[in-house]
Amino acid sequence: MRHLISPLDFSVEELDKLLSLAKDISENPKKYSKCCEGKKLATLFYEPSTRTRLSFEAAMLNLGGSVLGFSSADSSSAAKGESVSDTIRVISCYADICAMRHPKEGAPMVAASKSGIPVINAGDGGHQHPTQTLTDLLTIKALKGKLGNMTIGLCGDLKFGRTVHSLIHSLVRYENIKFVLISPKELRVPDYIKEDVLDEHGVEYKEVENLEDVMGELDILYMTRVQRERFFNEDDYIRMKDFYILDTAKMQLAKDDMLVLHPLPRVNEISVDVDDDPRAAYFKQAQYGVYVRMALIMTLLEVSLDEQ
Ligand code: NCD
Repeated sequence: MRHLISPLDFSVEELDKLLSLAKDISENPKKYSKCCEGKKLATLFYEPSTRTRLSFEAAMLNLGGSVLGFSSADSSSAAKGESVSDTIRVISCYADICAMRHPKEGAPMVAASKSGIPVINAGDGGHQHPTQTLTDLLTIKALKGKLGNMTIGLCGDLKFGRTVHSLIHSLVRYENIKFVLISPKELRVPDYIKEDVLDEHGVEYKEVENLEDVMGELDILYMTRVQRERFFNEDDYIRMKDFYILDTAKMQLAKDDMLVLHPLPRVNEISVDVDDDPRAAYFKQAQYGVYVRMALIMTLLEVSLDEQ
């Protein structure tokens, strides 16, 4: 049985297969509408979410399956003190696959070790968010036609932003990727990622504070929200929350084919005026998130079109 806990749980070849399946689903969604008939997805969300939970649910419904679950820790037995390990043992009796989001780093991994069904990490604290990475990879591949030979700017909260951590882990496996890490000093990429991932793979990167200065170099600009819920101190959050605001003036400095991605939700970091720019890809990205989660559910449940 397979789980998806880290973005590295799939090899590059397996990822290629999964992204090709997601592409076919995006082109022929009807063909897949009965693939998971009779199967159930449980969404166990101990932390708030709109996109991730609903895109998982939409993905399973699009495949003809059904969904059950909870959307906050308060409405689950966690409020009574039940451990994640016990919860997953019970859920294994009710569902065929589950997606779990948890504020504690490592919780989905603990769950997977006790689970009778595939567990998908739908975000664990400030650690990883592998299905957002699948979404990001599919978006880049669909709109740029490639995953290598690019300069990628990651901007905003690179310390607590789990989407950034997972994306870096994944992209270093492709050829000729360069990173420009754009953040205030306090919100830089953690050292363990610089040392164990970037340096380890010999990937070129630089850390800067000013977005305008590097805008013209980028093929992709990945904007992120300052992660308020992970700050210990509200004053620090207030000081940093509007550090970067991407607006139409800054977009004029960018290449004509640069793409702007954002995992969403957006707060202030992208002005709404940018939404009409053809290079703004963040709402398309949300749509790709459903296709890639359909492909992921099929892959982990080992169902294919041929079986129908
Ligand atoms: C991200 C997350 O939860 O980490 N959202 C998402 O899943 N699309 C990004 C964020 O909350 O800022």
